[in-house]
Amino acid sequence: MRTINIPFGRSFQLKVILLLVLSLFFIATLSNYLIYKFSYDAQFNQLRDKLKVIAQTAALFVDADTLAQVPMTKDGVNSQAYKTIAEKLRAIKRVNPPIKYIYTMAKTDKEGIWQFVVDPEPLVNGITSYPGDKFNATRYTEIAKAFFGPAADTKLETDQWGVFLSGYAPIRDKTGKAIAMLGVDVAADDVYAFQKGIKQRGFLVLLLGVFISIFLGMLISKSITNPINELVEGTYHISEGDLRYRVRVRTSDEIGELARSFNQMSENLFDVRKKLLDYFYRIAQSLVRILEAKDQYTRGHSERVADFAEKIAIKMGFPKDKIDLLKEAALLHDIGKIGIKESILNKEGKLTPEEWDTIQKHPIIGEDIIKPVSISEEMLAIVRGHHERYDGGGYPDKINGENINIFTAIVSVADAYDAMTSPRAYRPALTREDSLKQLNINRGSQFHPEVVDTLIEILKTER
Ligand SMILES: [Fe+2]
Repeated sequence: MRTINIPFGRSFQLKVILLLVLSLFFIATLSNYLIYKFSYDAQFNQLRDKLKVIAQTAALFVDADTLAQVPMTKDGVNSQAYKTIAEKLRAIKRVNPPIKYIYTMAKTDKEGIWQFVVDPEPLVNGITSYPGDKFNATRYTEIAKAFFGPAADTKLETDQWGVFLSGYAPIRDKTGKAIAMLGVDVAADDVYAFQKGIKQRGFLVLLLGVFISIFLGMLISKSITNPINELVEGTYHISEGDLRYRVRVRTSDEIGELARSFNQMSENLFDVRKKLLDYFYRIAQSLVRILEAKDQYTRGHSERVADFAEKIAIKMGFPKDKIDLLKEAALLHDIGKIGIKESILNKEGKLTPEEWDTIQKHPIIGEDIIKPVSISEEMLAIVRGHHERYDGGGYPDKINGENINIFTAIVSVADAYDAMTSPRAYRPALTREDSLKQLNINRGSQFHPEVVDTLIEILKTER
């Protein structure tokens, strides 16, 4: 089967797959975004609110006056004020396990730069930061808001100890003025894991979707391209003259309708061609009759040859369409004689070698005459080859044995038999017995043996 050779890059299949993948991408991205937005944001905001409450509550336990007494130097850690506040912060951390770090910071003169006051979490040599250690908070926009009320970072921070989120609240003195802020960092690994999980799941869904899209795309496009391929196959057959070729109609949809109308078209073409051929054969038959009418001896010869040939072919078991073709070819086998001078055709005496040469051209002339209208190579071969001999001594091509098409061999025997049993200007008709004898004598030399045997069998039963 021939298929349409369209590169995959330009194929319908790729277009369908791309379309499906794109629409899936769009849907998956949108749904992922919505899931992320609603579930993750909700969880994150909940954590931020909780953090603000923790920071605000913790800030209330820190005495602003004591904090103000912490010397802002490295030695400040040894002061009573530092120790009191540090103890308080540790106590708060103990009752709030999610807290990783709890610390206090005060503003400096420089915008965005803060300094630690009490940061008791033991990390390096028991101290995280000393009083007065600077902290650049420009990156943390929420810290700036901490003097006005509780705040919390809007995104997760990651360091070597994990993922955390920070909340801030002001530490106010008795007059209510914010003099420092308290910060708490809580572990946000759950939120982070959740966030990561959503991203991973989204990616997996997307990946799965892409595979499903490719699979579906192939399936959908195949359901369209397969019938199209079949139609293309059909057009090849039709263009080669095989008008009996039909494509399978599998569905009742538009594609099925296309296949149906394709078959209808082939059928119409077949009918039209048949009518044209019939017309041609009738005209050719008229020509043969005109030819035969000029010679009393050959009158009715072609039709009799066609009848004999048909009988032999039926006996040999050939299919009907082959027999029809054989009959038509037999009717036309001598049409090339139109191109031979009447004086030669009807000459009563012995032919000169030149005249004999001329006569021998009639199979080729006949082939030339029907070539423009005949669609069958077999028919052309029969007309050209009906004077070939089984032993290779015939004309025009001197082909022999099984190289001679069997239908040509049939016409050849039928032609010779009718010539023998018909009177000629130079001899009377042979009797049936004498003709049979002649056929037997030339069986295997001039004639195809099987064809001779078949004709003899027919003649015996007819008797
Ligand atoms: Fe002939």
